[in-house]
Amino acid sequence: MPKTTPPRTYRIKSFGCQMNVYDGERMAELLGAQGIAPAPDGEEADLVVLNTCHIREKAAEKVYSDIGRIVKDARREGGAAPLIAVAGCVAQAEGEEIMARAPSVSMVVGPQAYHRLPEMLARAVDGDRVTDTDMPAETKFDALPPRGSGRRKVGPTAFLTVQEGCDKFCTYCVVPYTRGAEVSRPITDLIAEAARLIDAGAREITLLGQNVNAWTGKDGRGRALGLDGLVRELAAMPGLARIRYTTSHPADMTQALIAAHGEVDKLMPFLHLPVQSGSDRVLSAMNRSHTADSYLRILERVRAARPDIALSGDFIVGFPGETDAEFDETLRLVDAVGYAQCFSFKYSARPGTPAAQMDGQIAPEVMDERLARLQQAINRDQLAFNEASLGKTCEVLVEREGRHQGQMLGKSPWLQSVHFSGEAQIGEMVRVELAEAGPNSIGARLLEKVAA
Ligand code: 5AD
Ligand code: SF4
Repeated sequence: MPKTTPPRTYRIKSFGCQMNVYDGERMAELLGAQGIAPAPDGEEADLVVLNTCHIREKAAEKVYSDIGRIVKDARREGGAAPLIAVAGCVAQAEGEEIMARAPSVSMVVGPQAYHRLPEMLARAVDGDRVTDTDMPAETKFDALPPRGSGRRKVGPTAFLTVQEGCDKFCTYCVVPYTRGAEVSRPITDLIAEAARLIDAGAREITLLGQNVNAWTGKDGRGRALGLDGLVRELAAMPGLARIRYTTSHPADMTQALIAAHGEVDKLMPFLHLPVQSGSDRVLSAMNRSHTADSYLRILERVRAARPDIALSGDFIVGFPGETDAEFDETLRLVDAVGYAQCFSFKYSARPGTPAAQMDGQIAPEVMDERLARLQQAINRDQLAFNEASLGKTCEVLVEREGRHQGQMLGKSPWLQSVHFSGEAQIGEMVRVELAEAGPNSIGARLLEKVAA
């Protein structure tokens, strides 16, 4: 590739999960520390980072169409094409293929190597094409500039990655290959990062991990801590009003964490606990270490600890070999739980995963039909959950302005999107009465501001 001048502006586009959003923010800080600024809205950036997702085929294909569009837009504008870096899980899984298929890409960087982006950038400016998909022993977290650097403020809600990687090896999933083995960040680093986020304006922190409830650490006296211990330490931090965590695995849902839901006020009454299927035969073929019944029993204990908890899940329809009767078991599980919200996906065969080699791959139209039926059930329950909240008063953390004049948006403790009209600033906590339920949001009456 020809030599270029060092980039002055960047744009980062993150796809997929919240961990990618977090990584995107850390990359932004890293580039900021190099004196590279975010490109102003509507202007071309000198460097574009596509922070990609590999979890389903459609997500992965987006990378190539995005690269094509970036190059085409630059040509149309008559300018030089920007430097393009592909980061994230597609970079990790398909680095070589990207380099072969997309000559306009000059950097490919995996999710565990992006702290090395500045060195890669220097080489790319010299005309090299560079790939780094190592999973180095030194963690990127130690090498990154301190959280919040290069930026004056963060929003009222912030993500904090506490754990990465996965050792569960569900047979359909690429995560154990793209993100590597389960690693927990030390508690001292997490408390320090949380303190910086709170100083910069965060009032709610969502702890992130592919298996966040597998987080382990040690307290000041060297005693083992689980996620419940981390939650309790964070809850003691003044200025922090709310704690959430995602995504959890049923196998790591300890009684101590369940108990924390009943005991720690700042821990919000919301649990995202993917189940994937309601059929034990399918769950076993997926290498999930739980049955439909053991999952339901965990939820019973969670509800005993925190009766008003809002439950959320992930589902895959059309896993290889899934019969109509097995899919009906999934619908029955949904009926039994009464979720507040859910994510549901058509099974996507991912290269290198055991399920991609299994017999009985399901026809797309069967998957479409099952997904539609599942989503109907989920939407029904989501609306019912929202309707059941009407008349409740609760706190809402104001996150942003709404589309209508004077309208403000935020989240209820149960993660419902709430909108209301009235005097309130972003970052304030207000008390509202939930008044009008839609499938995806709730209209509320502002009652009062809650003192910080
Ligand atoms: N196909 C469809 N959905 C998948 N998920 C993970 N891998 C696949 C796949 N190959 C879903 C699971 C998981 C969520 C993050 O994505 O439901 O919980
Ligand atoms: Fe993937 Fe299963 Fe690990 Fe979740 S628990 S990241 S679905 S392998």
